[in-house]
Amino acid sequence: MRLKGKTAVVTGAGRGIGRKIALMMSGQGAQVLAVDINPDALASLKGCDTFAADLTSEADVAKLASKAAKMGPLHILVNAAAVVVFGWVDELPFADWRKTLAAELDSVFLVTRAMWPLLKAEGGSIINFSSANAHVALDGLPAIAHTAGKGAVLSMTRQLAMEGGPHGIRANTIAPGFTVTEETEQHLNNPEMMASVKSKLMIDRLGQTEDIGYLAIFLGSDESGFITGSDYRIDGGATAW
Ligand SMILES: NC(=O)c1ccc[n+]([C@@H]2O[C@H](COP(=O)([O-])OP(=O)(O)OC[C@H]3O[C@@H](n4cnc5c(N)ncnc54)[C@H](O)[C@@H]3O)[C@@H](O)[C@H]2O)c1
Repeated sequence: MRLKGKTAVVTGAGRGIGRKIALMMSGQGAQVLAVDINPDALASLKGCDTFAADLTSEADVAKLASKAAKMGPLHILVNAAAVVVFGWVDELPFADWRKTLAAELDSVFLVTRAMWPLLKAEGGSIINFSSANAHVALDGLPAIAHTAGKGAVLSMTRQLAMEGGPHGIRANTIAPGFTVTEETEQHLNNPEMMASVKSKLMIDRLGQTEDIGYLAIFLGSDESGFITGSDYRIDGGATAW
């Protein structure tokens, strides 16, 4: 029960990494408000309060803030929601660039801004998602918008750490390498892509959502009380050589 007595808002909790973090944080005693654009995906989430919202909409985020305020002070904010639209640089429509940046970057800004007063109340921990591809190019995939979004989340989180320090708000990023989720399993049948992913691993297996969940619990807990402005790579060593 490492998060007993804590409140948490977890975005992107309909599936994948966000969903696993919501469940694992709830399992460690946190009161979790799980948020996603997809209400059907939230419906099957056990042990969490849920709220459906499009986090690229300022109006929806304002409604989320009202809902979250009912829990009292907020101790943990996990911004995991994202959408990736792939396209090579000379082919990607501007609308798809903006769709990716809206979901990966605007949503982090809007939700964090809205939750800031609740985080300030007793101090808190913001956990954002950069990516291995905020550090190295995504070999073989047309991920120009995604890499831009993740680089921006990495740098804005350091700034959030600076602004949050006086208020007892910590902010860190998790940088996963290839992690098996509903979003990435489309690539499992792509032999070239998987050969590239596996060739970079020092540990001979693919990343799983639990791997990320354990780190999120640590970063959300008081055990990480002196850690802020940091980025944690969970990638089986892929970006270390
Ligand atoms: N899976 C990986 O290999 C990997 C690697 C590096 C970084 N990441 C990052 O980790 C995070 C989670 O990744 P994932 O693979 O679990 O993603 P995913 O696509 O499986 O899940 C994302 C969730 O966000 C929700 N969402 C999308 N747009 C939304 C919006 N506007 N409002 C509310 N909810 C919205 C989706 O409905 C979905 O449930 C993302 O930020 C991603 O960029 C993932």
